[in-house]
Amino acid sequence: KTGLVTLDPAFMNTASTKSAITFLDGEKGILRYRGIPIEQLAEKSRFVETAYLLIYGELPTQPELDRFSNLLTRHSLIHEDMKHFFDGFPSTAHPMAVLSSMVCSLSTYYPEEHDINDKEKMDITIARLISKVRTIAAYAYKKSIGQPFIYPQNNLKYAANFMHMMFAVPAEPYVVDPDIESAINLLFILHADHEQNCSTSTVRLVGSSRANLFASVAAGILALWGPLHGGANQEVIEMLEAIQRDGGNVKKYVELAKDKNSNFRLMGFGHRVYKNFDPRAKIIKQTADKILAKLGIQDPLLDIAKELEEAALKDSYFVERKLYPNVDFYSGIIYRALGFPTNMFTVLFAIGRLPGWIAHWKEMMEDTSTKIGRPRQIYTGPTERLYVPIEQRS
Ligand code: SDX
Repeated sequence: KTGLVTLDPAFMNTASTKSAITFLDGEKGILRYRGIPIEQLAEKSRFVETAYLLIYGELPTQPELDRFSNLLTRHSLIHEDMKHFFDGFPSTAHPMAVLSSMVCSLSTYYPEEHDINDKEKMDITIARLISKVRTIAAYAYKKSIGQPFIYPQNNLKYAANFMHMMFAVPAEPYVVDPDIESAINLLFILHADHEQNCSTSTVRLVGSSRANLFASVAAGILALWGPLHGGANQEVIEMLEAIQRDGGNVKKYVELAKDKNSNFRLMGFGHRVYKNFDPRAKIIKQTADKILAKLGIQDPLLDIAKELEEAALKDSYFVERKLYPNVDFYSGIIYRALGFPTNMFTVLFAIGRLPGWIAHWKEMMEDTSTKIGRPRQIYTGPTERLYVPIEQRS
């Protein structure tokens, strides 16, 4: 089952973690979850099934999938007292700050069910987190627009339940468009894991001290929020809107991104590992065309994004540095079309990435040889020197 992969020695020097979850080949643009190519999962799977694959290592049988789905349905509510937490957040609170606070707070309601050796309890804890993250995200959005919270519905599947909590209102029925439900499932699958990226490494590092799953994931959410990481999907749209306001002058922004004196970078471009195309970006770009056509939406930002990609990929600066569109470059175009506000985009990334974070936390906790993360450093400070009394300091 585990294919032998020949690794170049230079790579071996940098790799510090062993994992059986996700395989990336940055040069060839390969991404596989538990050995299954992302293209096949994107075409054939649903998010809940892919989440199961990442966390438990195998595609579920029908009874296993039914049991997992049933746990997600049964654990979708947050404790009624947790709703009061939202009273304290300003309506302008960024939903990533709310998400991390609320996920961490879950550990005050379920303080003990994090024993990795108690499968029954751990399965429930994992299902609680994957299920409740939707409820928390939707409540954060409803709080920001002053609308009442919409409770989860047991008759709805994962993505549809989330869309219903996000966009339903008490005054009228809300039916989730199946095309939109499929697009959300696909986007969550494409974001579900990505090896030892910044936020996943954060979850592993925090978890290595034996911090509980909720606390470890709360830390991962905050790492993902950074504009160089998951926060880039919000930055991309803001960049495209700025180019649009500036008359669509794509060339100017490509030049600006090359200017070392400007702080401007082409958001959604470049990657620590992919030095060729990001396989997820290819799929998302195709999906953006399809879903906007199905919904009859003409988004000028999509045209600007395509022009920007074309201009950059013809420019030697980007070609020499192997800078290609990454997962964040086109995803925001789809989220906009589905009705999400820009500040919810990274929350959507977090919901998608949650199974990957859980899988890595679980893999690390099950490895009894795991030691507490304790990176060393190259010391660059002063050599030994004496304490100077304050009256002698200049
Ligand atoms: C994600 O790790 C993961 O897997 C992350 C992720 C996941 O699924 O978890 O894939 C999700 O975080 C995707 C990345 C989203 N971030 C962005 O789109 C922000 C914009 N991108 C850059 O900040 C940058 O490309 C990074 C942070 C993504 C990658 O940085 P690297 O590989 O460390 O590149 P670098 O900073 O060393 O830059 C190398 C050169 C530099 O120029 P020189 O000093 O060689 O002259 O490329 C330049 C950089 O200035 N460069 C860019 C650029 N990205 C790199 N120049 C302009 N625009 C850019 N976007």
